[in-house]
Amino acid sequence: MTFKDVETQPYPDQKPGTSGLRKQVAVFQQLHYLENFIQSIFDSAGEISGKTLVMGGDGRYFNEEAIQQAIKMAAANGFAKVVVGQNGLLSTPAVSQLIRHRGAFGGLIFSASHNPGGPNGDFGVKYNIGNGGPAPEKITERVFARSQVIERFQIVQAPDVALDALGTHDVAGMVVEVIDPVADYADLMEKLFDFEAIRELFKSGFTMRFDAMHAVNGPYAEKILEGMLGAPAGSVVNKVPLPDFGGHHPDPNLVHAKALFELMMSGDAPDFGVATDGDGDRNLIIGRGVFVTPSDSLAILAANAHLAPGYGQGIAGIARSMPTSAAADRVAEGLGVACYEVPTGWKFFANLLDAGKISICGEESAGTGSDHVREKDGLWAVLLWLNILAKRKQSVAELVAEHWATYGRNYYTRHDYEDVETEVANRLVEVLRANLPELKGQSFGKRRISQADDFSYTDPEDGSVAAHQGLRIIFEDCARIVVRLSGTGTVGATIRLYVERYEPPEGNLAMETQEALADLLIIAEELAGIKAATGRNAPNVIT
Ligand code: G1P
Ligand code: ZN
Repeated sequence: MTFKDVETQPYPDQKPGTSGLRKQVAVFQQLHYLENFIQSIFDSAGEISGKTLVMGGDGRYFNEEAIQQAIKMAAANGFAKVVVGQNGLLSTPAVSQLIRHRGAFGGLIFSASHNPGGPNGDFGVKYNIGNGGPAPEKITERVFARSQVIERFQIVQAPDVALDALGTHDVAGMVVEVIDPVADYADLMEKLFDFEAIRELFKSGFTMRFDAMHAVNGPYAEKILEGMLGAPAGSVVNKVPLPDFGGHHPDPNLVHAKALFELMMSGDAPDFGVATDGDGDRNLIIGRGVFVTPSDSLAILAANAHLAPGYGQGIAGIARSMPTSAAADRVAEGLGVACYEVPTGWKFFANLLDAGKISICGEESAGTGSDHVREKDGLWAVLLWLNILAKRKQSVAELVAEHWATYGRNYYTRHDYEDVETEVANRLVEVLRANLPELKGQSFGKRRISQADDFSYTDPEDGSVAAHQGLRIIFEDCARIVVRLSGTGTVGATIRLYVERYEPPEGNLAMETQEALADLLIIAEELAGIKAATGRNAPNVIT
């Protein structure tokens, strides 16, 4: 074994975004690019000598290569042990669970989430800390600062680890344990949910389709749904993880999971249709003939969580990201628990979860989760839905209708303008931000603006402040327009426009969403001028 101290030079662009460092594969393939970033993490993480590190990825192109390098660097940097999923696979929630369960120091997740994969796709590295959650900003800033002055990285010269062979391996004195990626996670799910009730549901003839999108959740869904819960064989489709996700975006939305959506709207629809993303943390929920928005899904899960054994005592509180609809707020009010509004990005939930202030949290971008891990969790959301359907003995459509009839409906949409010139996008946000102070009190027809600001969040636990988290225009009737720039894109800028309004239980709950929000969309264009500035006449994606 030889220990190498390799000279290197900084790359200026290694700034971690909302979910770690995400770049095109070709960028990661530059000389020492990956190594620089991993060394910067190790240099910024604190005392790592003798500790355990969890590693795994979503199986995309460059996954195994990156993991082999990271293992050798972990050995050179003094870790005592690396726990890695077989063939380098671990879903993001499974990494979070393993860090917690094994008392590990932290973990590295190799994924670009729902972005496309393959040699021309994207890759990413995310660092999670000992509580299982994404490193907070104070650490990611340290990592970035370090990456800008890095001069050397450490690596051992050793053969590659046989990642297909379960059991322990030795890498220059460090133990590498290759584990079944599903086992620990499945144990936890069995504790949280009423598997017996779900088995009965499937026995009674309930049908579902789980579209794993050729991403990491295939093996998890197959083992848990078909293997442990008795879902009919073939319920899980696209179940083999592929380096290029079969050429698709592993993004569970109505555009990229179109086949699933069409099936669910057709005469052949099963009872329940779901999909999860590249790294398994996002979810899409569709009932027969009815799409459930992620914001509504969060509210419905929170309202019914007590039907699952893991939440049988009731929930402590709910949190949602700022652009997520306020449907969950109404449930929190109904349950008499607190509701927190945090900036976009899962890391903001972690302190609230650690403090026991919330049990359930979610984002409009198809992320839902709970205090069982410190990441959003796609399969967990699917299992909680199944548990609720099994207990309530209702269809998805009946459950949603009853929810709206109880709490009212938050009509909600998000419009994405992708690959916009960065300067154009920045200018648009600057101009709107500068105009905000004058907007309060202005009227548009029957709507009057009661508040207009740039969302800023002070963490109630550690007092840290996250400013500039999105421009909000709020009307007297609680309708809202929100504009923010994506922090996860890899090409140009993405402008996100979020529009919402509330319809009370006695109102019209059966409108088409874009129609229900038509007047607000016109006001949004008048105020933000996204179409005018970008020269586009429609968004790339509407959810
Ligand atoms: C997007 C989502 C956000 C999510 C993040 C990571 O970030 O909008 O809710 O936390 O991906 O999955 P954005 O691109 O909007 O910064
Ligand atoms: Zn993801």
